[in-house]
Amino acid sequence: MARGDLLIKLFVSLCFIFGHGESSYAGVGSYDDQILQMASIKASFLKRDVISPSRSHTIQPISSSSREHHATDYGADPTGRSDSTEALQQAIFDAFASPIDGHLMQGITNLGGVELHLDGGTYMISRPLRLPDIGGGNFMIHGGSLRASSDFPTDRHLIELSSSSKSLSYEYITLKDLMLDSNFRGGGIAVINSIRTTIDNCYISHFTTNGILIQGGHETYLRSSFIGQHITVGSDPREKDFSGIGINIVGNDNAVTDVVVFSAAIGVLIEGQANVLTGVHCYNKATSFGGVGIYLKSPGFTQNRILNCYLDFTGVVMDDPVQVQISNSFFLGNAYISIKSLKGIVEGVSIVHNMFSGDYTGVPIVQLDQSNEPFTLIDQVIVDHNNVRGMRLRSTVARGSTWGNGTTWTVDFSKVLLFPNLIKNVQYALQAGKLFPKHVLRNLSGNAVTVESDVPVSATLHVVVDQSMDGYI
Ligand SMILES: *[C@@H]1O[C@H](CO)[C@@H](O)[C@H](O)[C@H]1NC(C)=O
Ligand SMILES: *[C@@H]1O[C@H](CO)[C@@H](O)[C@H](O)[C@H]1NC(C)=O
Repeated sequence: MARGDLLIKLFVSLCFIFGHGESSYAGVGSYDDQILQMASIKASFLKRDVISPSRSHTIQPISSSSREHHATDYGADPTGRSDSTEALQQAIFDAFASPIDGHLMQGITNLGGVELHLDGGTYMISRPLRLPDIGGGNFMIHGGSLRASSDFPTDRHLIELSSSSKSLSYEYITLKDLMLDSNFRGGGIAVINSIRTTIDNCYISHFTTNGILIQGGHETYLRSSFIGQHITVGSDPREKDFSGIGINIVGNDNAVTDVVVFSAAIGVLIEGQANVLTGVHCYNKATSFGGVGIYLKSPGFTQNRILNCYLDFTGVVMDDPVQVQISNSFFLGNAYISIKSLKGIVEGVSIVHNMFSGDYTGVPIVQLDQSNEPFTLIDQVIVDHNNVRGMRLRSTVARGSTWGNGTTWTVDFSKVLLFPNLIKNVQYALQAGKLFPKHVLRNLSGNAVTVESDVPVSATLHVVVDQSMDGYI
């Protein structure tokens, strides 16, 4: 029932009580009935906790007019000792049973902000909590902990937004203030074919598959959360065995903001476009143990952004990237960016304004993995303006000078330029005091720029090279 309806009903009741006093109409009910009815309507405006501070001593009917469904009212065990699957599932079903007028997206009913409140308890569940197949939106689960039982199915997630329908089924679902313990049996949260989902302030641990799986749909906003297979702050003796994926995104238009992935084989895996990661701290599994911080696995059409992130002993890998922005991020402990060739394509990639720090063993900040095949389609790749300490700088733009007394000058950029034997644009100046020798750009091969003069002179050669562009017209 909408609040407006309640107000009208209350008004009608008051008119009845004050307008008609104790007179009794046939079929309307006694004065006492009216008072009771009014009291219950008024009560529905108040938070139930105010009315019954000690809930354990008050039996609340399940059909309470409050739209906040309390786990403990359904008999769920907040101590986590007995199985609460049925109780919690029933609470979810009831939440979906009272939609209000007004649709969300076509075919998705509006549940009017109804909530499942976990009452700060920890509940053991033996099956996933699933939202009903009929779909719905404007619903929240919050305020407690869930833990998988020892027989929880290992191919499922504790909470699943997943209907059998292929079309969008859930909209504006909020999962908030939850601690999820997958008990090394499957995953934490699956968001499938859902739109405008919020996951906020969740702590997800002990998963074997995914901490969070986002598949299809649009606009899952995951923020301020902590995700790790093992509970650790790093330097963990089990690190080489970390498995699973912290955040597995198979879809478009999602945002991951201010999230830590503290253990998993892959921190964030993305297959899809138009996703953005910002403020993500990955220390899930070090590169030296085979871990990946962020894996962009959308070869040929990537369109994802990594901004303001912190890659901590674990790096970024991208397959045949096309349109990727990595900026304002911090790479610590030899963490680097690997660009992997599947079909030799790398296009529209900007790696700029990042900070890299390592242990002076000579690890380059950006590396090409051409083990499948060499890059052949290289366009608009800009690696520049990164600052580096204890690692080897790699760049697509470079400047250098050399002095010589003779007829040839060579500046060798092969150690700094990212792509071997590729200079798309070069500018040089030969500074020869008061002399005017004839000179020419003689050679670019192997990323070494050679200039030759017709007569021996003492001169300095200044060169700027660029691998990113074919030159502007
Ligand atoms: C350059 O070489 C010539 C001939 O070898 C020599 O006379 C001249 O002093 C040299 N100039 C400088 C600046 O070293
Ligand atoms: C350019 O340099 C490469 C490598 O040193 C060499 O093999 C080649 O002959 C040079 N080309 C010219 C025109 O000097």
